[in-house]
Amino acid sequence: MTSLSSFALALCLCLCLTFVNGNKYDEALSSTETPNYKEYCVIGAGPGGLQMAYFLENAARDYIVFEKGYGAGTFYLKYPIHRLLISINKRNTGKTNKEFNFRHDWNSLVSHDESLQMTKYSEDFFPPADTLVQYLNDFATKLNLKIQYNSTMHDVMKREDKLFQMWDQHDNVYTCKYVIMAT
Ligand SMILES: *[C@@H]1O[C@H](CO)[C@@H](O)[C@H](O)[C@H]1NC(C)=O
Repeated sequence: MTSLSSFALALCLCLCLTFVNGNKYDEALSSTETPNYKEYCVIGAGPGGLQMAYFLENAARDYIVFEKGYGAGTFYLKYPIHRLLISINKRNTGKTNKEFNFRHDWNSLVSHDESLQMTKYSEDFFPPADTLVQYLNDFATKLNLKIQYNSTMHDVMKREDKLFQMWDQHDNVYTCKYVIMAT
């Protein structure tokens, strides 16, 4: 085969493949299908994503949290490297006012469950990061937050019908009305 004809063949193959596959993003743009639809998609189950999920759960909204790790707050399994938080865990404020005391607890998330307070997890003024990971996972479990773990979302895009579409690492498609990035 001449180099010209093999070039032509390669070009043709390339064009054909493009034609057969289309461009999945162009296709998605005009799609009106709604696989795995949720009204709210929250991306990330760290402190921000969990807090958002708590309020969505309490408001009985149709939502899901996507988390790439196998649990909540896995960032804190590695960081900070020296393994202690620099956010204070002040257990004794000398006051009984809950609002006041909560302002001196820099780690806890907001919830109605009083067992979910970092002051009950650690006596240390600068608590270990691993304790926060435990706390965050308890927060997710006890409050029944809807989290899909091991899910790395990519190519979040807005379609012509104004819905968001995205894919996980296995190329499963998800659609949502609202996307909240909490990464
Ligand atoms: C997530 O992946 C881990 C392995 O990395 C596995 O042990 C775990 O069961 C998975 N969890 C879910 C909910 O699929």
